[in-house]
Parts: sequence; structure tokens; C-alpha cells
Amino acid sequence: TVPLILDLDTGIDDSLALLYLLASPEAEILTVASTAGNVPAPQVAANNLAWLDLCGRPDIEVTLGAPGPLTDPLRTTEDTHGPQGIGYAELPASTRQVSRRSSAQAWVEVARSRPGEVTGLVTGPLTNLALALRMEPELPHLLRRLVVMGGAFNHPGNTTPESEWNISVDPEAAHEVFAAFSAAPADRLPIVCPLDITETIEMRPEHLHLLALAAGSTPAEPVTEDDPAGTRSVTSNPVIRALTDAVRFYLEFHREHDQGFLAHMHDPFAAALALDPSLATLRPATVDVELTGTLTRGCTVADWRGMWGRPPNAEVAVATDPAAFFRLLVDRVGTHAGT
Ligand code: BDR
Ligand code: CA
Repeated sequence: TVPLILDLDTGIDDSLALLYLLASPEAEILTVASTAGNVPAPQVAANNLAWLDLCGRPDIEVTLGAPGPLTDPLRTTEDTHGPQGIGYAELPASTRQVSRRSSAQAWVEVARSRPGEVTGLVTGPLTNLALALRMEPELPHLLRRLVVMGGAFNHPGNTTPESEWNISVDPEAAHEVFAAFSAAPADRLPIVCPLDITETIEMRPEHLHLLALAAGSTPAEPVTEDDPAGTRSVTSNPVIRALTDAVRFYLEFHREHDQGFLAHMHDPFAAALALDPSLATLRPATVDVELTGTLTRGCTVADWRGMWGRPPNAEVAVATDPAAFFRLLVDRVGTHAGT
């Protein structure tokens, strides 16, 4: 099994990442942290609790993260993910509360409880992990591996011309994390999953259709551009129904930004890598974050050639087979029964 700490800013693609991991038999989710990003942290926590409840996993702890980045005011992106972060999905509110410990505390305590065993996955800003590192600088040694969705290297940004959302929201946190993980053992460097690769992970209406079919639901017509409300995609499976409602919003967002009727599934791909790093070609690099550039604050820079004279602190995912990933995704997420 792969014991996991998840740190999400749920988020439509974060939601699918969570559903993917919940449906993966080898994943052992120990705790779910909620980071401020796509929507404010309390809404992220509410979304995490609601998805876990819907999937019949009220046993999994959800923690509340810091209210905002280390230095900047919080920016959120309801335009991309919907007013509550889950598109058009309407999930029953959980009656559970978040845990008494903070997300940063959970990182530290869970990592300490199983030294060398736990993989951390961050699919939002790195604020909670940076705070955890301030509490426990040994985290790079205590964790088995860290996987981060973030950054853009030889690829345009999605937040500013040069910067990717998760890094751009809290550049100081990302900088602290990359600096701290330069101490990680060379065979356990963090895996960084940037836009360069995640924008090749294009989810299309056909995938939703296949998911509904895999989940054995009735009748499941593909979401189409001439049926933007998705009225024909009714499925009796509550998990797939909610997911379809969430992803429909994301499809529309991408279409409004001239990217086609598809949605980039950044976070689910990072989640899959957390379980199986062999899904991508990994290339070592020394990664750092621009903090002061007037045009480039929040931009990630990879030194591929050792020009800084610093050893690699990351393995960057540079290539994959998106079709193989989507087969895996449909196989797994299609097993959700809902409650
Ligand atoms: C990242 O930004 C967020 O909006 C997504 O959830 C993903 O984690 C992609 O840049
Ligand atoms: Ca995210």
C-alpha cells in the first residue's frame, strides 16, 4: 500500500484526484489537509468532507489549513471552479467537523508516526507544507516521497504569463518547500508535476460517458456542447453524477478560454503519480521559484544542467501516455458505488 497525506484546494480537478485515490486499492489515505487556493480553506474543507461522506469514507480525517498564503493576501478562482469550488455539483453538506489539529500539525504528526513510509501529495498552494516544515525541518527525511502539482517550465503559465496557479498563489511557500527538500535523499526527491505535462491530460465528454457506463448507471449519454446543462447525462450513481456536474463547469470554463470542450486534469494525474511514479518520465532538476521579478513573480525555474552548482532537488514529470492514464482513471473511478 501507499500511505498518503493529501493536501488539496478542492477544486474540480482536486475532487477527481480524491475520487481516483479513494477508488485505488493500494492507496491508504491517512489524512486530508485543506489548503486555501481555488476557494477559501473552510470551503475546501467542506468540499473534502462532503466528497468523503458521499464516497462512504467518513472515517478519514479532514483538517483545516491556514487561511491564506505566507505573505500575500489570498486570491481564489471561483471563475475556474465555481462559487463553491465544485462546479455545478451539489453535495450534501457533511455533519462532520474538521479535525482539532491544523493541516500543518497533521503533516508533522502523521509523517512522524510512520517515518519513511508516507507519501505526501499537494495539489494546491504549498502553504500548509511550508508551515509544517517550519515546525519539523526533518520532514524531507520523514516522508517517503513528496508529489506536487505545480509549476510551468518550458510552457506558458495559467495565472500570469509565466506562473502556474498553485505556485503563484503562495510563491514564498513554494520557495521554502523546494529549498527544504534539497535535503531529501537523492533517490527520494520530490516529484513535480507541472503544466507542461498536466495540460496534455485532456478530459473530454467521452471520458465522462465511459465513467458513467463503467459505474453501471442508466442512461448515460455524453455531455455535449449542444446540451451544456448535461441533462441527458443523468446517471443513477451519485458519485458519478456529482463528478459529472463538477466537470461540466470545468469543460465550460476551458471552452470559454478557447481551449476547446475539454478540461485539463492536473491534479488527478499528480495523484496517479503519487501511487505509481512510473506513469511518467521523470527528469532531475534543481527547481526554484522567482520571488522578486516584476513580471515573473511565482514563476518556477528548473536548472536542468547544473548551472547553479546545486544538486537536483526534484524530479520533474516531463512525458506520459495520457490515453493510458485515462484508461486507468475510468477503470478506477468507475468502481465508485456511492452511498
Ligand atoms: C492547478 O490550479 C488549480 O486551479 C487546479 O486545481 C490545479 O491544482 C493547476 O494550475
Ligand atoms: Ca488544485
